[in-house]
Amino acid sequence: METISVRIEPSFESWRKEARRLLERAIRPDLILWSDASTAQEDLFGQTAVTELPGEIRPVKISKAFLDLARTVSCHSNEERWGLMYQIAWRMVCNGETNLLKKVTDSDTRKLMEMAKAIRRDCHKMNAFVRFRKVGEDPHTGREQFVAWFEPSHHIIEYNASFFVKRFTGMDWSILSPEKCIHWDGVNLHTSEGVSKEAAPTEDSLEELWRGYYKSIFNPARLKLKAMQAEMPKKYWKNLPEADLIEELTRQSSTRRDEMIEAESIAPRPAPRNAYLNSLHDRNKTAVVNESAPLHDKSLEELNQLASCCRACPLWAKATQTVFGTGNPNARIMIIGEQPGDREDLEGRPFVGPAGRLLNEALAEAGLERDDLYLTNAVKHFKWKPSPTDRKKRLHDKANRGEMEACKPWLIAEVMKVQPSIIVTLGNTAAQSVVRKDFRVLSERGKVDTGNSIGFSGSIIATVHPSFLLRIRDQKEKQLELEKFTADLALALES
Ligand code: URA
Repeated sequence: METISVRIEPSFESWRKEARRLLERAIRPDLILWSDASTAQEDLFGQTAVTELPGEIRPVKISKAFLDLARTVSCHSNEERWGLMYQIAWRMVCNGETNLLKKVTDSDTRKLMEMAKAIRRDCHKMNAFVRFRKVGEDPHTGREQFVAWFEPSHHIIEYNASFFVKRFTGMDWSILSPEKCIHWDGVNLHTSEGVSKEAAPTEDSLEELWRGYYKSIFNPARLKLKAMQAEMPKKYWKNLPEADLIEELTRQSSTRRDEMIEAESIAPRPAPRNAYLNSLHDRNKTAVVNESAPLHDKSLEELNQLASCCRACPLWAKATQTVFGTGNPNARIMIIGEQPGDREDLEGRPFVGPAGRLLNEALAEAGLERDDLYLTNAVKHFKWKPSPTDRKKRLHDKANRGEMEACKPWLIAEVMKVQPSIIVTLGNTAAQSVVRKDFRVLSERGKVDTGNSIGFSGSIIATVHPSFLLRIRDQKEKQLELEKFTADLALALES
């Protein structure tokens, strides 16, 4: 069959319409040449775009999950995105690979996930670094008017407009950019051609307001200069009136951090005693171990990279990033927690928040060096819900069975790679992931002699989660529980 030239407007809707026509005829991706109708006169081979397509028409169904992802990826600046999106759609629809998006080892899936990640990152930057400046008032409505300038790396200006519409519904604003501009008048969103930077005002009366606002939201507990500099490339700094405040606020941060209390609420809950779930246990065990087989050959670094694109459960969507294990790759002892908390989610490393600090103290007390250990979690994404009293605050939410199972191949791969002699599980979730689904730490803590569900042949010690200790108010009880926790950790040294 001959190559088919398909010209589209560079938009998701245009791609979707053409992709559907092609999929209905099961046309192979390698036969298609995608080009941008707004720039292309003739394609590379001098062919003109095809309007009539060969082949019989069959109805096709494309999953919403894929379409959502493709809509995001369509904003990427890489010209190959249209072909990649079609290749994946074709494999899912015409080649029977319905679970392709869950196969993070697949090179097409990885490319797609990485592109989606780049778009989310660009949107995050736009949300964080757009600064509106007042330019006047509408003489008819009296509404104040604001303008901002932003240069995204990808085609996200329109895609990401809803964030600003929701956030700044009550004012008239324009966001100008070299490729496209968006304008909100309180009712409708309009688009217009891009403009040059000179069109955006630089001086304005709102700077002091921004500085005041920034001071009030500055959270010293989240201050990480290196990460902040990576997040805020120099090109954005010049647009930020608050940039020169950062140094001063940084100097004050250690005092302010000590004044802040970060609450984590990990309540140990009894696992359901359910004969049916238990009967599934062994079947799941085999499936999970087999599923992780292709991962065994990867290095920890490669596993970490693959896990960063994992979408095996929905938790990735609300989390900042995957928090993979860290520590000594040849550790004799591996510590497994439940899931990253707020702090870990932002920093990308396990046990760096309040629970981590308590764990560090108990490890030292038990005679264990954190640097000798490998630390990870049963679930690698932060699951959270907004606090009912402060919507900006993220409260820990317990991972469910499905989420634990979805993450298990990563945990098994880590165990296989590090090959520890001893695993210490912290809290019910970790023990239920590693030992068995109805494990209850408070009644079965200590050395576990009843086998496990991850095919591990070393010793397992189950103990409570440090967050459980953090929540104990009564000082005497807390001290007692701390001693028991330390004694459990010390068991690892003796095993
Ligand atoms: N709690 C956990 O279980 N793991 C972390 O990494 C942090 C808090």
